[in-house]
Amino acid sequence: MFKKPISHKAAQFTESVIREMTRLAMEHNAINLSQGFPDFAAPDVLKKAAADAIFADVNQYAITWGAKNFRDALVYKTKKFLGIDIDPEREITVSCGSTEAMIDVLLAVINAGDEVIVFEPFYENYGPDAIISGATPRYVQLRRPDWSFDEKELAAAFNNKTKAIIINTPNNPTGKVFSREELQIIGNLCQKWDVLAITDEIYEHIIYDGAQHVSPITMDGMRERTIVVNGMSKTYSVTGWRVGYIIAPPGITGAIRKMHDFVTVGAPAPLQEAGAVALRLPDSYYIDLASHYQQRRDRLMKMLGEAGLNPMLPKGAYYIMCDIAKWGYPNDVEFTKFMVKDVGVATVPGSSFFSDPAAGKDIIRFTFCKKEETLRAAEERLRKLQMVLAQS
Ligand SMILES: Cc1ncc(COP(=O)(O)O)c(C=O)c1O
Repeated sequence: MFKKPISHKAAQFTESVIREMTRLAMEHNAINLSQGFPDFAAPDVLKKAAADAIFADVNQYAITWGAKNFRDALVYKTKKFLGIDIDPEREITVSCGSTEAMIDVLLAVINAGDEVIVFEPFYENYGPDAIISGATPRYVQLRRPDWSFDEKELAAAFNNKTKAIIINTPNNPTGKVFSREELQIIGNLCQKWDVLAITDEIYEHIIYDGAQHVSPITMDGMRERTIVVNGMSKTYSVTGWRVGYIIAPPGITGAIRKMHDFVTVGAPAPLQEAGAVALRLPDSYYIDLASHYQQRRDRLMKMLGEAGLNPMLPKGAYYIMCDIAKWGYPNDVEFTKFMVKDVGVATVPGSSFFSDPAAGKDIIRFTFCKKEETLRAAEERLRKLQMVLAQS
């Protein structure tokens, strides 16, 4: 038997709690409101473009850092929505989802001893990403009810070892959309301390109540120190296609492309061709997307409120956090187990979004990127919770 230890890095983090909840949902035949993937169809125009590309024999490796058509379409979309010109030859890397994008970026910029600032609660991948890349995470709290940060606490997290700050806006899991003023505060600190802003903007078009998505790359003095991580998964409802991208200054793109090349070689070639079609969809596509999600958000908010789950209204992304303190469970993990086994609805324990699990012990997260019939089925099951509440 092999007796030497496995990698210390691998030993420092667990499997994804969110993806584990999806497995549990299948095991217990529960309605899955845990993992953020749509259960409805992707747009026909994209499916056709992907099928056409395969039949046109776009079946071999694309250029490592991205098919030309995709990169050109990204230049078009970036100009249209962010108003900036990016160079398709020197500033874009296409990756296997934004998941690969984030780790490529960290591998490309982090050296031993470097610190990375992460807002907490955070999307659970950032913890393992920091460990894999060798960064030391410094957490700054986003506080309820509006998930704002304390300016002094943020300023105190910056020092000479700080290499980057990760900003996820619109935010998973909180639904926070960072305001221009907040991003200005962050931007000023980045410039003062010579720090990179790595921005995860995967929910850029999923935004409600007239809120505006502001990309830090568009802010004064930030163009040359912002690395945008994004992808097709959420905007085009194709999480399984695994097409993401990075926009970074030329000097950093070279290092990112090397990491990407040796991690995956390239993103799926035919799906990049379909992606080129997606990135040129008209404005109406994005307006419809936001309005469909807003309806679903309002629907789930009402359901969760009626079930006594104290939902917190998100301004963006497609998740709702609930405060479960009054239910008297020892913690969020026990509550989510009860939900999946006894109620038949899978959710995510809040502790998976915090470095200290105790900080998330009274929170659970639901997603609403689901068909009406899925939400209706969840509504039926959540009525059981009302019964428990009535009895208690
Ligand atoms: C904030 C955030 N970033 C990245 C991802 C992963 O995206 P991709 O499918 O592009 O890897 C997710 C998925 O849930 C997410 O919520």
